[in-house]
Amino acid sequence: MSADALFEAARAAQAHAHAPYSGFKVGAAVQGESGAIYAGCNVENAAYPVGTCAEESAIAAMVAAGERRIAAVLVIGEGQKLVAPCGACRQRIREFGAPGTPVHLAGPDGVRNTFVLDDLLPCAFGPDHLPPK
Ligand code: THU
Repeated sequence: MSADALFEAARAAQAHAHAPYSGFKVGAAVQGESGAIYAGCNVENAAYPVGTCAEESAIAAMVAAGERRIAAVLVIGEGQKLVAPCGACRQRIREFGAPGTPVHLAGPDGVRNTFVLDDLLPCAFGPDHLPPK
């Protein structure tokens, strides 16, 4: 599946990032199993630890829309270095994704590399580890 629509959604959200403290704007987009795309950006706070990641807000938008499965993820950062999801966001993606879920890493120029979630979070802890309720 082409990542073009994810890229455009993430780039549009990145433009709205609230990153006055780091100066580092990030956008993210997740595709639900319905095919719909949900975007988010990082939202920093003067109380630094309260800030949220772009992936976090994109996933929250997906869940708020009633979806529970992530089919694909794209993250866009600034600069030359590849921007990959932080450790906590890898775990957030794990909650709704699968080991084979593609995670596209992009810069302003487009997608630079693509991993699957299992590459980024091997031997992951997930919902399957918990006893059924
Ligand atoms: N950030 C994200 O939003 N996602 C990532 O994958 C990496 C980091 C944000 C958090 C913070 O607002 C800024 O980038 C610098 O760490």
